[in-house]
Amino acid sequence: GHLVPSGPPSPKKIPPWPSDLCKGCRERYSKTWKKQEDNYRNFSSQLRSQCQGFDRAIITQANTPVGSNIVYSAESKRTLMVTPGIFSTFIKENPFPQKKWDTCAVVGNSGILTNSSCGEMIDSAQFVIRCNLPSLGKGYEKHVGTKTDIVTANPTILVRKYGSLNGPRRPFVESLHIYGKSLLLLPAFAFGFCTPLCLKAAYSISDIESPIRPTYFNPDYLRRLSNFWRSRGLHRGLTSTGLVMVNIALEHCANVHVYGFWPFSIHPFELNAVKNHYFDDKTGKWGMHSMPAEFNQLLQLHSQGVLRLHLGNCR
Ligand code: CDP
Repeated sequence: GHLVPSGPPSPKKIPPWPSDLCKGCRERYSKTWKKQEDNYRNFSSQLRSQCQGFDRAIITQANTPVGSNIVYSAESKRTLMVTPGIFSTFIKENPFPQKKWDTCAVVGNSGILTNSSCGEMIDSAQFVIRCNLPSLGKGYEKHVGTKTDIVTANPTILVRKYGSLNGPRRPFVESLHIYGKSLLLLPAFAFGFCTPLCLKAAYSISDIESPIRPTYFNPDYLRRLSNFWRSRGLHRGLTSTGLVMVNIALEHCANVHVYGFWPFSIHPFELNAVKNHYFDDKTGKWGMHSMPAEFNQLLQLHSQGVLRLHLGNCR
């Protein structure tokens, strides 16, 4: 797809960056962005060799046979032996064998997307990744688009929004129709409580015959990725879903465009208040993650021309 550059507005018109929010961010972001082929190649090949997301980020019947021992990514003492029952819920093989996309969009959920007019540009990517069952459709389409190839679902949403899937499952499955035939990526083996919930989600989808395809994050991959970032200074907490998806994209896509990542409460250019999510009013609580530190790393990758972070409005 063709992407129209969405540079930040001219520096002259911009009031000072709120220093308590993201020190030096504007200066680091403002430079004209150009992909630096060498830096991109270098970084994505490090990811490939150290994290092996290309064929190991998602659990498949091919990479996780019956009898394998799964070690949970957030509870290293917890393990699970793969039974034929669990195995039958795994997808057969890597959903992207040897496939490399030209352009991918990774869409985080920050309120920075509100009124961004980025929908068309997001949808122009060949492959679109979204996080945590975000709202799409009426009122949002112009700003976030509709196309979805992968969508993740955090188990806490299954608990809070869908009553742990203990009641009727149809409302849950119907709410997934907006994501079409995408892959639904679930962290079934992060914490122990995630497994029954994510299996219930997968069974509900197959019982009601929805086109979305449930899959699970491979906890080995999440562990490798967390070590990769730890060695680059991200010591606190778990890697956020958004950062995981950016890393998967960097292994699969030649051009990675990142939208909706802004874990701060004031817009970088407009200076108005920014909500944690573009679709609700909940305030951000980053208990387990350290999103500002992660953002800093993303900004660095942007400055190095490895990926392109979109903070400004797209028109
Ligand atoms: O479940 P989690 O808190 O990780 O994520 P979310 O709030 O549903 O948002 C999805 C992803 O977007 C996060 O994992 C972050 O990487 C990113 N995000 C951000 O950068 N700034 C925000 N204000 C909100 C989310």
